[in-house]
Amino acid sequence: MDKPLFSLLKSYAEDDVIRMHMPGHKGNALPFFADNAKYDITEIPGFDNLHNPEGVLLSSMKLAAKLWGSDNAYYLVNGSTCGILAGIRATVKRGQKVLVARNCHKSVFNALEICGAQVKFIMPPFIGKWGIFGSIRPADIEKALKNDKNISLIILTSPTYEGVISDIRSICKIAHSYGCPVLVDEAHGAHLSFMGEVNNAVSAGADIVVQSLHKTLSCPTQTAICHVSEKLKEKASHQLSVFETSSPSYILLCAIDEFIRHISKDMSIFNLWKKALAEFYDEMQNLEKLEIIGVFADDNTDFYAYDKSKIAVSVKKADITAADLFNVLREKYRIEPEMMGENHGLLMTGTGDGEKSLSRLSAALVEIDRACECKQRREAESFSFENNSFLSLCDAVEADNDLVELQNAEGRICAEYVWAYPPGVPVIVPGEVITKEFCESVNNSKLRLISDSGRIPLEILVVTDK
Ligand SMILES: Cc1ncc(COP(=O)(O)O)c(C=O)c1O
Repeated sequence: MDKPLFSLLKSYAEDDVIRMHMPGHKGNALPFFADNAKYDITEIPGFDNLHNPEGVLLSSMKLAAKLWGSDNAYYLVNGSTCGILAGIRATVKRGQKVLVARNCHKSVFNALEICGAQVKFIMPPFIGKWGIFGSIRPADIEKALKNDKNISLIILTSPTYEGVISDIRSICKIAHSYGCPVLVDEAHGAHLSFMGEVNNAVSAGADIVVQSLHKTLSCPTQTAICHVSEKLKEKASHQLSVFETSSPSYILLCAIDEFIRHISKDMSIFNLWKKALAEFYDEMQNLEKLEIIGVFADDNTDFYAYDKSKIAVSVKKADITAADLFNVLREKYRIEPEMMGENHGLLMTGTGDGEKSLSRLSAALVEIDRACECKQRREAESFSFENNSFLSLCDAVEADNDLVELQNAEGRICAEYVWAYPPGVPVIVPGEVITKEFCESVNNSKLRLISDSGRIPLEILVVTDK
């Protein structure tokens, strides 16, 4: 039972067996996939079943639960997206009220739509100095729960895309005192507990924690894990079966199993990564114009904690745009960043990084910093939000809709999402009323706005007037 999945797949691949089962390539694929096709099988006897694990997958998931300290761990091959959809569907009944951090990922909004939930938003503080959101404040959670006894779930993201961690321990304590479970989207924080960060959501007591294994750990794209408390196990495992593909890839599962078994014996990759980051941040103390947000994180009370594996380079004090920084890093230094926004660029590190990549990055940033001049710092602009839902997300999306000119949309109920980048937050969601202030903000905004219809700032989808 305890054999690694890879040794089972290897012996099957080496066996002279005629494969009269899916997938259709039968282990013989075209060049790109040829080397691994022999390991790409379906759920044949001896290989367990992700939807009803009893063998090699169950033993691997038990090992993962032990490593993270959770009651139950479930492997996902459809990304954190699948865990978020399943976790929310498992905890929210149709029409129930959910308290949601406004800066959540798209998958959270999609799940709330599927559940027909009523949504109450909570806003993290916007930090004008950096142009990103800070941590969700426990006091704001307490206030919301005190004012509304019908909240059935709290959903928040920690760490955020930019590395901002919230005080999940205090939030869980408050939520649980009101009998309310907490779901944490920790897609960007699967590594936290192994890096000695005490503010990780599993140990802080969250009821459901969803982590991408591909964002910061050495696992392939689409792999993720969902940690579920014993109390929610039955409902969550049913919903995972609803959202997870019925043909999970053994290549992805084997890569997860191999990684989990590796770190259960040897955590040195985390120590190497930590050491490389510490050296990198030491070098970054000397920058004069570029600013690494992580360097200043301890001084900012809007950050409860900060994940320094995220390297967010602010250009607010330097006479270079984020786009130019992006181009110089790519073209001159052959460093490919994760994302460039208006005020900062984001470089992500992971277990695959070591001294070499981080010292090359620090040398490049020091050189670029020297070549820059100082510029006057400007506070970043925030969008004004109003939580004025008239219809639930679900009702607004299901209703008939019309595309109207923004100038004629005031007072109408919005039927689509409009996202502002960065930091990637919906400035309006289906069901909210379009106000004069919203239209003015869209017209004056320098942020990149994206809507489902692709027509913003000219037109917007609204619910048809009956
Ligand atoms: C905060 C956050 N949550 C969830 C997701 C979805 O994760 P996945 O791509 O593993 O489905 C993302 C993806 O970028 C994300 O940034």
